This record gives sequence, C-alpha cells and structure tokens, in this order.
Amino acid sequence: MVSTDVDESSLGQEFRDEMQELLAPLQQSLASVIDQTDGRIALPPNAADALEGFHQSLPDTGTGAAKAIEQLLALNESAGGNTGGPKCFHFVIGGSTPAALAADLLATAYETITYTWVLSPVGVQMELQALDWLKQLFGLPRAWSGVMVTGATMANFVCLAAARQWWGEQHGFDVSETGLSGKPQMPVLSSGFIHASTLKCLAVQGIGRGNVQRFAGDDFGRLDLQAMERALIELDGQPALVIVNAGEVNAGEFDPVNDVIALARQHNCWVHVDGAFGLFAKLSPRTEHLVEGVDQADSVTVDGHKWLNVPYDSGYAFVRDYGLMAKAFRYSADYLPEENRERPTPGAIGPESSRRARSFAVWATLQAYGRNGQQRIVEHCLDVAQHFARQVERAPQLELMNVVNLNIVAFRYNPGGMNNDQLDDLNASLGEAVLADGRFLVGTSKIGPRTIFRPAFSNWRTRFSDVEEFAEVVLVLGQRMMDGRRI
Ligand SMILES: Cc1ncc(COP(=O)(O)O)c(C=O)c1O
Repeated sequence: MVSTDVDESSLGQEFRDEMQELLAPLQQSLASVIDQTDGRIALPPNAADALEGFHQSLPDTGTGAAKAIEQLLALNESAGGNTGGPKCFHFVIGGSTPAALAADLLATAYETITYTWVLSPVGVQMELQALDWLKQLFGLPRAWSGVMVTGATMANFVCLAAARQWWGEQHGFDVSETGLSGKPQMPVLSSGFIHASTLKCLAVQGIGRGNVQRFAGDDFGRLDLQAMERALIELDGQPALVIVNAGEVNAGEFDPVNDVIALARQHNCWVHVDGAFGLFAKLSPRTEHLVEGVDQADSVTVDGHKWLNVPYDSGYAFVRDYGLMAKAFRYSADYLPEENRERPTPGAIGPESSRRARSFAVWATLQAYGRNGQQRIVEHCLDVAQHFARQVERAPQLELMNVVNLNIVAFRYNPGGMNNDQLDDLNASLGEAVLADGRFLVGTSKIGPRTIFRPAFSNWRTRFSDVEEFAEVVLVLGQRMMDGRRI
C-alpha cells in the first residue's frame, strides 16, 4: 500500500523556473552557434588537450542548467567537430537546410515521439507523407512501404531483415519465428563495393559477414557481372540475396544497377540496393543514368543526413512488400497498439520502438524547397566536386585517382620521384597532418592497395573557395612534409 499522505516536492516549480530563465540565453546561444557554422574551425587542433581532465566522478550537487550549458558550449568550441560546416569532407556528411534544422530543433522542443499514431498523429503522418515524397523524388514505386531509421546502417538492417524473411518463406518457414538454426546458408552476392555496414547487418542477422560472395573484376572492387551470373546459374533457382551498391565510398562509383537487377530478375533473387548517398544521383539529369532501374529492386536504402541535408540522424528503408517488414519486426503486448494501417505504428515495422520525430525535418525540407530545391543541392555538390577535381588537375603535385562520377574526389599528393609504396606512406601521414591542422575534416582510404584522400561533398554550405583552400592546404602541408623528410 502506498501512502497518500505526502507533500509535493518543489522540484516541478524549480525546473519550471529554471526553464524560463534558460530561454533567453538559449535563444542567443542557438543563434550564435548556427550563425558561426561557416566560420567555426572544422576540427579544433588541441581537442585532446581541451578534454584533459574531462572525466570526473558524478557530482552530488550539480551546477544547474545555465552553468552546464555554458560548459557544454565552451567544450564544443574547443573539442567539437564542425561536421555541419562547409569544410567537413569526411565520410559522407551532409549539412542541414534552414527548414530542416529549424524543424529538427522543434522536434526536440516538442519532445515528439513517433512510435505510434496516438502519441503524435501529425508526427506519424508527416513520416508517411515524407516517405511518399521521397519515393517520388527517387522514382520508387509509391506502393512500396518505408520506415525512418537512424541512418543507412539501420536502413540496410531493415531491408535485409525483409530479405531474410522472404528467403525463409521461399524455403517454407518463418525466419522470425524459427530462427536460422539447422537451416541452409543464405546465398549473398555482391561486388567488391559492398559497404561495411551491410556486412555488420549480415553478421547480426545470423547470415554471416563472411558469407558474402564478392564478384570483383579488379582490385578496386568493380563488379564482374559474368562471374556473378555464373554463380546465379549454379544456384539453380535457390533463393538468394543480391546486394547492389549504388554509390561506393572511395570514389562514388556504382555497380551497374540496371544490369545487375536485370540479371537477378532472371533468377530467384531478392535485390537490395544500398543507395545511401548514391540514390541522389537520380535528382540530376547529369547523373540519373547511374541509378536507372532502381525501381525494379525489392528494397532500397537511402540516407537523409547525407545528401538530403537534414540533421543527424536520419535514414530511410524502402521495401516493396509491407508484409515482410511487418512480419520481421512484429511484436505485441497487451499495452501496445494492434496493427492498424489507418493509424499506424512505425515502431512495429522497424527496429526501434522509441523514435524521435525525424519526420519533422524531412517533411519540412521537402515542403520548403520541393523537388527543385533538392535538385539544386545535389547539383551544387556535383559542381563543387568538379571544381575541386579541376584544382587537383591543375596542381602538378596532386593526382586524380579516379574519374569523378558524383560527389567524391579520389586523389593523392604526388610530388614525383617516389614509388607507390612510398606515396602510400606519405599520403597516410599527410592525412593525419591535415586532420591535426584542423581547417578541414577529411579522410583517407584505399583504392586497391593505393592510399588516397577521398573528400566527399554533400553540404550546401561548401563553396568553391572552400575547396580551393583545401587544395592549397594539402599542397602546403605536403610540401612541409617533404621538406621535413629532406632535413
Ligand atoms: C553506401 C553506404 N551505405 C551505408 C552507410 C552507413 O550509413 P550510416 O552511417 O548513415 O549508418 C554509408 C555511410 O557512409 C554508405 O556510404
């Protein structure tokens, strides 16, 4: 029995007062953080020093919100990456449009939850509307189902879960009920471009990351279609999963989407397309040929926090068959809602139950800028990539390492007189030097055995002047490194 004879604590009033006091300074801080996005350094060079002594034991009495937020702002200035800024070319990271950023802040301010319709009818409807708009944007069939998740890793997870469900049904069992124990191995075929996140998903779904057959015709990983065809013929109608890579991360190359899907359609395959950033090629007449035929797939992954320019985290899984998603992710309890297509529960067709309103930002940016606005963002980034490629071609010490198909430029510093192995070491060290310098956030990778820089341009904020400065920084730091070697 709980006693009813209790006095109300003052906590509620204290927090209400504190929230009130926080509003004006928060408004100011938000304005200045957003306003300084262009100017804030990409990666503060002394971040590690600034974090010295950061870890402390839990305070018994806290500092209060104003001080904590002040501290957070100061720490971020000294040790935060400016990943939304114009000079972040690492991984494939987009910026945020004004509408998307504002809507996302509101999603947090409203504390909106999109697990199920009843918690936020508008949050859930915005998700459905935004997913429908995205299907129109990418030319995917509108009858397909979809769900918003944290990013392309989880979108791949959803799509592969649907594929696994299909594969089980082909064998006459329900994978989500029986599991995989004692079942045959699921054949998985792809090119050398398969993304690491897909392997992670295959690993956790019991399919096995080591179970992928990669048909690569060269050491970059480009698809050997004939070899894939021979393997499919050998399967003799056994159900299989074909993973098509529409946009690989080292140079923005593509598997031949149309050809692979046409081939897979002659066999008993589920075709999944990982178009995390590559699907945006569809938005420009200059690049749409790269994803021709994607509407013939069974599932497609796209990221929003990359080229849609909505804030992290935001990704989308599109699946031809709603029923497979519903079976793969079904769960029930007396206190949870039952399946209802009119008043849906996105939490029951994807991995997360608790979900923030990613839909606000996606809906707002599509509503604010429409198809033309998204095309302009994509073409701006294509232009930036081409402009940077010209800087590389102009500088005798820089070498383009692949054609520039899309938004990633693979290049290396090559001052002459060094063999490939020496150049690999030099570029790996130069990559570290560029990060330590802090003006640009950018990564290195490998095409075959060769070490390359791979700046990816996916942010509307990046200007031609930024990539000109980037080329200059690589040249100056490269020269400094060469001078150091000679001493
Ligand atoms: C092709 C591809 N697939 C999947 C991912 C994983 O995306 P996320 O980091 O959004 O989970 C990426 C990320 O760069 C990617 O480029």
